[in-house]
Amino acid sequence: MSRILTAAFGLGLILLLALLLAFRHGHAVDIHRAWSADDIQNMQRLRFSAQGIADKNSTNELLRRKDAIELGQRLFQDKGMSGSGQVACATCHQPENGYHDTENITFRLDPEARHRAPSLFGAALQDWFFWDGRADSLWSQALAVIENPKEIASNRLKAVRHLCAQYWTSYPALLKGCQQIPDAPSDASPLVAEKGWQALIPAQRENINQLFVILGKSIAAFEAGLLPPVSPFDLYADAIAEGKFTDAASIFSEKEAAGLKLFLNTEVGCVNCHNGPMFSNSGFFVVATDMPDQPEHDRQHGIEQLFNSEFNCLKWNRPENCAKLLYINKDSSETVGAYKVPSLRNLRHATAFMHNGSLKSLEAVIEHYQNPPTLPLRHIDIRPAALFPHQKEQLLSFLTALNADISHKEVK
Ligand code: HEC
Ligand code: HEC
Repeated sequence: MSRILTAAFGLGLILLLALLLAFRHGHAVDIHRAWSADDIQNMQRLRFSAQGIADKNSTNELLRRKDAIELGQRLFQDKGMSGSGQVACATCHQPENGYHDTENITFRLDPEARHRAPSLFGAALQDWFFWDGRADSLWSQALAVIENPKEIASNRLKAVRHLCAQYWTSYPALLKGCQQIPDAPSDASPLVAEKGWQALIPAQRENINQLFVILGKSIAAFEAGLLPPVSPFDLYADAIAEGKFTDAASIFSEKEAAGLKLFLNTEVGCVNCHNGPMFSNSGFFVVATDMPDQPEHDRQHGIEQLFNSEFNCLKWNRPENCAKLLYINKDSSETVGAYKVPSLRNLRHATAFMHNGSLKSLEAVIEHYQNPPTLPLRHIDIRPAALFPHQKEQLLSFLTALNADISHKEVK
């Protein structure tokens, strides 16, 4: 009896030792096995998928038309539309640099520019465009740029005339209205060339606006195809979801996984705003990036511009298709000093961060969240992240794992 007991005890001891050893040995890879069911689900929410692009672009009936996509791609690179003949969309959103503005062209053209150019990867998945969300569709965003004296610096008649002269014969089905474009005046727009606009009769204005909208919708149809390439994070999320832990460990270092863990931690807070496949919840928040006396290009301002825009959803669609505009949050206690939550994917090509480019590195951004400035008399949506130095490094290495190989071949 006692021999059996001793044997059982011995066996138990050996098992215990083996377990302990396995635990110690396994510890190095265990971070990849230790995700909770919630964590795994949250990773899947951040995993990129192209779903939803059609919904978000429901006011663009040209979204899937091949001719419109092709025309849009050509227009994106066409300098002929611009006032100076020198600037195209691709000048600032450089295809070879993930559609970022790595040469700070924006600030070179306008030293007083307030906003830096974001990447266009996944732009079509958003609800609002520009840092202050002053456009409610990708197509109306493009029209605003064309008439912005600091960007394309054109006017709608000039742009439409170029469109017709250059592309009508190639895309007759899209550009029927080109036959009715008047020969004079040379420039016309209610925003930037009023005299010319007044000289036109209503039917001419209507036709020019229609063609201008087709131009915007074609560019938007092209942009909708600019999807972020798969990043190491997406591969990691897949591997974890499928229980392929060895693969996971070959994709993410422990440091990157620890950074992801911090990112998903709701106390640290990043995922509360940077959520969804573009790492943005489409909201506008105050993260204390501008001085208390200068928030004039914020969400508050964006909403005013949006309702004044001739090309907002309500002006071109039935109200039932414009729910997001009708139910917009106008509460100034939340919109003053607030900016759109940007995507965190592919920031490798960004040379400055935040809407105003005020922070020059990701390290500086993390430091900002660690120690946000206080804004007297204004509410702010973040609180100090309380990270240890090694945790800041982990978070940084996770953000780097959101970079994909973006040698995009479609646009030359
Ligand atoms: C002079 C540089 C410049 C040119 C040219 C330019 N952009 Fe931009 N783009 C910017 C800047 C700067 C912003 C951010 C402006 C803001 O938010 O106020 C921006 C924002 C955008 C956005 C919004 C992205 C988002 O996430 O909100 C889209 C889409 C876009 N541009 C597309 C275009 C298209 C299409 C063209 C050509 C018709 C174009 N851009 C031409 C600099 C430029
Ligand atoms: C309350 C919402 C909120 C929280 C929480 C939050 N962010 Fe942000 N984040 C924003 C907004 C809004 C901006 C843009 C602010 C601006 O331009 O003024 C931003 C900008 C950024 C940028 C700059 C991106 C670019 O293109 O310039 C990075 C990087 C970033 N956040 C990372 C993080 C990390 C890491 C955390 C967690 C420590 C975090 N954010 C927490 C809302 C949030």
